[in-house]
Amino acid sequence: MYLISELAAKVGVSRTTLLYYERLGLVTGQRLDNGYRYYSEGDLQRLILIQQLQTAGLSLKECQECLQAKLDKSLLESRLNQLNEEIEKKQHARELLMALLGKGSQRELHQSLGKNAPNAYLNWLHVQGYSEKEALRLKWLSKDMNQHDTYMQDFMTVFETLERWGPGSTQDSLKALTLISPESISQVLEIGFGKGLSTILLAENSTAHITAVDNEPMAIEHLHQRIQSLNLAQRISPVCASMTELPFKEKSFDAIWAESCVYIMGMENALKQWKPLLKDKGMLMVSDLVWLTDTPDEDAMKFWLADYPDISSIPERLKLFKQQGYEVVEHFSLDVEAWKNYWLPLQQRMEGLKPSMPDSQAIADIEKEISIYEQSAAKDFTYQYFVLRKNG
Ligand SMILES: C[S@@+](CC[C@H](N)C(=O)[O-])C[C@H]1O[C@@H](n2cnc3c(N)ncnc32)[C@H](O)[C@@H]1O
Repeated sequence: MYLISELAAKVGVSRTTLLYYERLGLVTGQRLDNGYRYYSEGDLQRLILIQQLQTAGLSLKECQECLQAKLDKSLLESRLNQLNEEIEKKQHARELLMALLGKGSQRELHQSLGKNAPNAYLNWLHVQGYSEKEALRLKWLSKDMNQHDTYMQDFMTVFETLERWGPGSTQDSLKALTLISPESISQVLEIGFGKGLSTILLAENSTAHITAVDNEPMAIEHLHQRIQSLNLAQRISPVCASMTELPFKEKSFDAIWAESCVYIMGMENALKQWKPLLKDKGMLMVSDLVWLTDTPDEDAMKFWLADYPDISSIPERLKLFKQQGYEVVEHFSLDVEAWKNYWLPLQQRMEGLKPSMPDSQAIADIEKEISIYEQSAAKDFTYQYFVLRKNG
């Protein structure tokens, strides 16, 4: 038998709480002849049981119903669901804190921000000290501030020796150039030229002067060397600048050429920002990743929605061009051979590098991307080449 103060000490609640429990009928003390209230071993065990039930989030009333076998099972189910949701949120919060502290991956955070709050996201990266170039690379490639430098080093190691930095073929580039009417252009701006394959092609198949912009110094250096050796230095001017802040006067160009790079600043932004640089009726050749079907393969859909959430259908893109004041002259899709021109040498390069870079996140990402290409490039999605004319 326990006095109320003894029972309260045993179960770690106050005397007042025990009196309240008694009023609810959860325990029943007995007043003995000496005037004191006493509680039994049964009362103690009942209280321990109630406390166990309370840790599952049951109210006192629910505990009571449970003890009387009257508690509705559906209530327990809904409580469990609620708890699972709370746990998931807490786990997410924990992962986020770990990611911010560099103790876990930031990938999910970066992907979600890039998709749902792109402007605030880029501003945040700038405040963290990233230049515009590095912020965009973080958004599109490394997706982790703590891993960014290593990631970019590995990424450039993979790509530095490759001829193509995006899918395409000489045939497709020539087709797009023909649609631009190369004989009628004298000043061309190429944006994001990579290894300069199309830069050389544009120079060799027109009489135009080509201003070639990229923000990667390695690409600029490589193009300089290439145009020297091909005797094209008078025809091609490499410029290191960002596609988001092009240092040219309005109406400087008869045509703009942007192959596999518009995603970096987004199609809509590019259409707006590049338009003033074109002369009246100037041409824009821009290629972009598009869906070829409304029901793409699930893996491809998941991959692109995370990696390029702006991916659209062809009709959506055509609508956007019209809205932004461009007439569509023609458009066509890259076939699987054009994709292979890109991914087969990339795959071969990876095989050579993998043994010496077994833990590289960049290598893992590129491998994943290649597997998506193998599965569904030119079937579910492709690069669409759009040849547009500026209205007015
Ligand atoms: C996927 S590659 C495409 C290269 C080339 N056009 C091709 O089709 O092979 C994208 C290119 O855009 C360049 N780039 C990335 N961000 C840029 C920026 N903000 N301004 C200019 N060029 C950029 C990269 O350095 C790279 O050369």
